[in-house]
Amino acid sequence: MLKHILVFFLFSCGGAWCCDALEMSVGKIPFVEAVNGSTVLLPCSYTSCIGIKNLYFNWQFNDNGTMQKVCEGVIPSETAEPHVSINRERVEFVGKANNVSILLWNITFEDGGKYTCFGHNPKEKGKNHSAIFTLYVVDELKVVDNTLTIIIASAVGGAIGLLMAFMLLKNFTLYVISKIEEKNKECLVSSSGIDNTENVLSGTKGDSKATPKKA
Ligand SMILES: *[C@@H]1O[C@H](CO)[C@@H](O)[C@H](O)[C@H]1NC(C)=O
Ligand SMILES: *[C@@H]1O[C@H](CO)[C@@H](O)[C@H](O)[C@H]1NC(C)=O
Ligand SMILES: *[C@@H]1O[C@H](CO)[C@@H](O)[C@H](O)[C@H]1NC(C)=O
Ligand SMILES: *[C@@H]1O[C@H](CO)[C@@H](O)[C@H](O)[C@H]1NC(C)=O
Ligand SMILES: *[C@@H]1O[C@H](CO)[C@@H](O)[C@H](O)[C@H]1NC(C)=O
Repeated sequence: MLKHILVFFLFSCGGAWCCDALEMSVGKIPFVEAVNGSTVLLPCSYTSCIGIKNLYFNWQFNDNGTMQKVCEGVIPSETAEPHVSINRERVEFVGKANNVSILLWNITFEDGGKYTCFGHNPKEKGKNHSAIFTLYVVDELKVVDNTLTIIIASAVGGAIGLLMAFMLLKNFTLYVISKIEEKNKECLVSSSGIDNTENVLSGTKGDSKATPKKA
């Protein structure tokens, strides 16, 4: 009995029942920082596991709380070309297939803000989906960031250099120490060798002294 219920749930979730029909996505990084005067891509794509029919989409710009329609369009089916109308200057629709991205040409500081990519698939009644992409328009003051990265890079490089220098110094010191130790050993060996010869000599001396005593 329990098994049957479980199987029923698995089946119903595998089908269209559990799946989130339409999904709008602005990508993994939902913002971009761009210098005024440049041209930026506002990315958006949709996926739908139940398919689409006359999918309505639009882009809206949040201008101090009032939503301004940037562009809107209808995609009759997955394979058909979208019908798009553009409501704002310097905007170009560059989407195709499941891609409803737009280009913003020659951006100004007023273009900075939140852009909502909205989608409504009549196949799912009354459900709306959207994703928000943020555009940050910056002055060419980016040099400050560059110097900062250079500072960080040189700091990191300096730290690595210091570490390498330290390791080299350590190796050198170890080498010198080992050399000194080797020398000391040599000294010990040679001195003990001398001692031995002395002993031997003294021994022979002793022997030679002893032999005549014995003799
Ligand atoms: C960007 O804005 C700055 C400051 O307003 C201006 O001096 C500069 O010319 C602008 N750059 C472009 C490419 O429009
Ligand atoms: C948005 O709001 C700010 C401050 O509330 C105001 O200075 C600015 O003029 C407004 N911009 C528009 C386009 O209404
Ligand atoms: C963007 O600016 C360039 C240079 O100022 C100009 O030639 C071009 O027509 C502009 N593009 C749009 C779409 O406004
Ligand atoms: C959508 O189309 C634009 C322009 O052709 C492209 O740069 C972007 O990578 C596309 N995005 C996706 C998710 O396919
Ligand atoms: C979905 O969006 C439409 C406008 O396209 C709006 O009329 C409707 O109220 C919205 N529905 C929901 C549930 O938000």
